[in-house]
Amino acid sequence: MSLQEVLKKYQERVNTNIKNAIDTLPADVSPKLKEAMNYGTLLGGKRVRPFLVYATADAVGASLDTADIPAVAIECIHSYSLIHDDLPAMDNDDLRRGHPTVHKVYGDATGVLTGDALQAFAFEVIAKADMGPEMMRNQLEMMKVLAVGCGYQGMCGGQELDMEAENREVTREELEKVHKYKTGALIESSVELGLLCRKNMPEAEKEAFRAYSRAIGLAFQVWDDVLDIISNTDILGKPQGSDVESNKSTYPKLMGLDGAKEYAKSLALTAVNALKPLPYDTALLQDFAMFIVERDH
Ligand code: IPE
Ligand code: IPE
Ligand code: MG
Ligand code: MG
Ligand code: MG
Repeated sequence: MSLQEVLKKYQERVNTNIKNAIDTLPADVSPKLKEAMNYGTLLGGKRVRPFLVYATADAVGASLDTADIPAVAIECIHSYSLIHDDLPAMDNDDLRRGHPTVHKVYGDATGVLTGDALQAFAFEVIAKADMGPEMMRNQLEMMKVLAVGCGYQGMCGGQELDMEAENREVTREELEKVHKYKTGALIESSVELGLLCRKNMPEAEKEAFRAYSRAIGLAFQVWDDVLDIISNTDILGKPQGSDVESNKSTYPKLMGLDGAKEYAKSLALTAVNALKPLPYDTALLQDFAMFIVERDH
């Protein structure tokens, strides 16, 4: 199967699982909040992080049924991060995944709460899953990986740094730190969650996967910065030029458009090379690294 076919297969798989998971929530608490949770998770999205959970789990011979759980959880965290990212207090964007942003449809307060509820839900999904007694240690570890990846030492920390880097010049080291935390952390967590679907993974092999995920995590955000300039709103499904509008610190601003493109491609190659020594079929993950820096949205 080609990368595009597998991307589609895992997209459909995780969409079904997210829908089923949210469907289990009682409708009578707040139909509006539940509807906003559906809206914020199910309308579009490339499902890059669930892909990484599934493709990593599959590469190391773990069960995809186990991977369903962290795949849903990481996408709930990611969707929450986007809902908050778009709020007027943050990037103040009106379009996401080709639709009006959650706060535009449901109001700012419900936007905040939808993100909060999805964040909690991600942990609920992992905590209540039955992965079997032999997986309990890994199940706990999954919650830790998710917590670290989305909190102070991860996405939230990076989002704060992103805000602090508006309207000023930053050094290359500073910008790398912003991107590593705000976006790299959840991408790294996705691969780590995939590895945790197998009961015992040799530590040395995990390190190779980590080198891969660090490189694609940074590449993903460098390319996102590039797309803000070279793509268009229809294809992106979010407002092109948003970074320029908010005077964000980005890689194209720091090193020029061509410099940023080249840097992203070199990171993708670093990622590919990290996987090569592994005794697994990692062709799909290698192709995915290249896809990240060729995608148009
Ligand atoms: C957008 O993430 C925000 C970043 C971290 C760059 P994606 O590009 O994965 O957005 P969706 O999920 O496909 O909408
Ligand atoms: C967002 O970065 C990273 C998140 C943690 C959501 P951006 O602000 O560049 O993401 P987009 O471009 O709005 O998707
Ligand atoms: Mg942002
Ligand atoms: Mg944004
Ligand atoms: Mg962006």
